[in-house]
Parts: sequence; structure tokens; C-alpha cells
Amino acid sequence: MAKLQAIRGMNDILPENSLSWQYLEAAFQRVVRRFGYQEIRFPILEQTQLFKRSIGEVTDIVEKEMYSFDDRNGDNLSLRPEGTAGCVRAADQHGLLYNQQQRLWYQGPMFRHERPQKGRYRQFHQFGVEAFGMPGPDIDVEVLQVAATLWAELGLAEYLQLELNNIGSAEDRKIYGAALTEFLQSREDQLDDDARNRMHTNPMRVLDSKNPDVQAALAGAPELDEFVNEESKEHYAELQALLSASGISFIENPRLVRGLDYYNNCVYEWTTDTLGAQGAVCGGGRYDGLVAQLGGRQTLACGFAIGIERLVLMLDSLEKIPAAALQPIDIYVTCIGDRVTKQTLALAQAIRTTCPDLGVISHCGGGKFNGQLKRAFNSGAKLAVILERDGDSATDLQTARIRVLDDSAATETHEISAIPAKVAEILEISAS
Ligand code: HAM
Repeated sequence: MAKLQAIRGMNDILPENSLSWQYLEAAFQRVVRRFGYQEIRFPILEQTQLFKRSIGEVTDIVEKEMYSFDDRNGDNLSLRPEGTAGCVRAADQHGLLYNQQQRLWYQGPMFRHERPQKGRYRQFHQFGVEAFGMPGPDIDVEVLQVAATLWAELGLAEYLQLELNNIGSAEDRKIYGAALTEFLQSREDQLDDDARNRMHTNPMRVLDSKNPDVQAALAGAPELDEFVNEESKEHYAELQALLSASGISFIENPRLVRGLDYYNNCVYEWTTDTLGAQGAVCGGGRYDGLVAQLGGRQTLACGFAIGIERLVLMLDSLEKIPAAALQPIDIYVTCIGDRVTKQTLALAQAIRTTCPDLGVISHCGGGKFNGQLKRAFNSGAKLAVILERDGDSATDLQTARIRVLDDSAATETHEISAIPAKVAEILEISAS
């Protein structure tokens, strides 16, 4: 019978790769903690309505990419395609948004039925940051500082570029959309079917068309910028001034509209040219209308999400992860001969107590000296502690040997009780 395989576009993360993920997760959590953000966890499944009402009915995500189904009660549910909607739903449901400021973060899997390719998957993972109750632009800059600090921490700052745009208010976009529809109608014969459909439902998405004929037809189209209200423009100008003062460089991209409907004022993406086609590593902006749109009180909000797979791809291909983070085993304790098991388990445990930051494997499953030593080398450990009894004896071993697992086969012998302190000394770490 054929073996079952994982679903296309949904990846297993194997032990050798999970070390990169752990490194990145630890860095992200350190950074958000430094900025005073607190973690929120919310379900992977929500009512489909939540995503329709927040991301927008006429978006690629809602129209084509959601994993939606009726459950056994007939409720229509969807796997979350992103985190902002669930974060807002959870925070509002539990009263976190009422007259309060909140700085929240989350991480976890998201699901979109897109065409899989490098950097684009059907189950992917995001780190997200959402801030509530502040008008900005100070908070917008703070949120961008969180991302910039992470890039610096990971050694990726020079590979990432911040692109900004101001998309104004929902009202501005409505008026702009009407002007754009009128313009597109005048060129209807030059559009493809997709653009002709979008022209009435979500004309701004026509601007993203990959079809060169459609792009040609767009020449001379009205620009969103001309329709943006004065207050938005002031916010945007101040944001740019604060970013420059904070040393965060950016470029303006008037074509950046984002694929989710809830944004207003500033939107942004951090992009890289190190990943090929899927160059957006982080996207976000303000979404001051979303909480009210979902039935809560009017609450100002902004945030971003980072694609973890894309960041891991960057870290791996640019070799930015320190070797130590990719090597979780430090010491391998062998167990050779009769009646050594009890002492091996005890010594490995004593080393763990003395050196709590080290990874210590206690050999299990018996076997000969050479086989165990080979496992020690293969584990990537720096040291082997060799507990070995040759021949038969009823008494406990008094000594063990330490071998540095490099090309020299030299060993040094010590009293077993002295071994934990000795390995700490050799590895130059402080013993507790
Ligand atoms: P988004 O731009 O749809 O925004 O996704 C954010 C990031 O998730 C992208 O920049 C990308 O790195 C990653 N990503 C998206 N789709 C995929 C995929 N199929 N495979 C791999 N990575 C992917 C949002 O999701 C908003 N909720 C961000 C936000 C938070 N806005 C305000 N707060």
C-alpha cells in the first residue's frame, strides 16, 4: 500500500531545521519582550465570517485561498489565513481593548491555499505584533522599530528594505475606487476578464495585475495619492520624519496597496531580493476601523506580521545562524560493559545539574566501545565522557575518561565525582 504523504504545501520541520526555527523564535521573543509586548494565543479555527468581515469579501485570501468547511454542527469555519482578525476578536471578546492601550504579539501557523513555491506554502507561520489604543505615528514607528531591531539582532538589516505607502482612509479609497472604475470603464476593451471583473468589485486590485496589456491600459490612471485626506498626509509626513530620526531608512512605493482590506493610512512591507519571487518578509500597517467593523468600540490599531519560513530561508542561505545554535549536543556519556548503567545515568544527570545549559546525552541501548564512540561523534558533541568497565567486577567504577571529540584520540582520566566540574572547565563555561 502506498505510504501517505504530507499535504502539498504543508511542510514537516525536521530536527535539523527546527534548530534554525528555535534560534529565530528565541530572537523574536527577546526583542518583543524588550519592547514590552505581551503574548496572546488564539485558536487556529474561527468562524469564516470573521475573516470575511475583516480581510474583505473581494480579496484573493477570502475568495480563493481559505480552508473553509462546515463542521458537524453545520457551522462554517475556516483555518486562519492570518493572525490580525483572530487577535482582534480575542482581545475584544475579553475586554482588553476597552479604553486601554495594548501591545500584543503572537506566533503560529496560518493557512492559505496558494500555489506552493519556494517561500510560499499552504501552511506557513507568522510572528505578529499588534498595538491597540494609540493614534500614532509614534506607535507606528515603535512597531517598525521592533522589526528593525529583529533584523539587526539576526544580522539581516542590510538585506531588508522598508517600503512605505499612504493609502488614506476607507472613505478616500471609496472615492478613489469610483474614479478608478470610471477610468477603467473607458479602457474596458484593453482589459482582461480578471481586470474587467475586478473593475467593479475591487478596482484597486487591478493595479496589481501581472498582465502587461492591463498595465499598459493603466497609463494615466488616477493616483491614490491625489485622493488622500489632509490628516492622513500629516500623519504620514510625521511618520517619515520620526523614522528618519530613528535611523530607519525607507523608500516610498505608491503601488503598495496590500492584499487585505482593513488597512488605512500607512501600510508597509519589508522586502528582500535574496529570496527570489517571494521577497516580502514582513507586512503591516494601521487598521483603525477593524475593531469597530467587527462589532467592538472604535479602537485605533496598527501592527505587522513576519513570514517565519521566509526569514528562516534567509538566515540559512546567508549563513547567519551561529554554529553553536545549530549544535544542541555538547556531551555524550558512554555506557560500556556490565553494571555501568546506574553510574552512567547518575553521571550524565550530575553534569546536567552542574552545567544546566549543556545538552548531555546518556548512551542507551548497550553496544560495544567503537559503536558508542561513533554515536558520540555523530551526535556532534564536543566531548565524550567514557564510562567503561572491562571485565567483570562487583564494585562501582571510580574513574571515567574525558575525550575531546576531535582528531586526537587523547583522553584524560578523573575521579567520577570530579567530572562535572572538569567538563565545565574544558568547555569554558561557569558551573552552577
Ligand atoms: P500578509 O502580508 O498577508 O499580512 O502576511 C505577512 C507575511 O506573511 C508576508 O510578508 C509573508 O512573509 C508571510 N506570508 C504570507 N503568505 C505566505 C505564504 N503563503 N507562505 C509563506 N509566507 C507567507 C498579514 O497577514 C497581516 N495580518 C499582517 C498584519 C498584522 N497587519 C497588521 N497586523
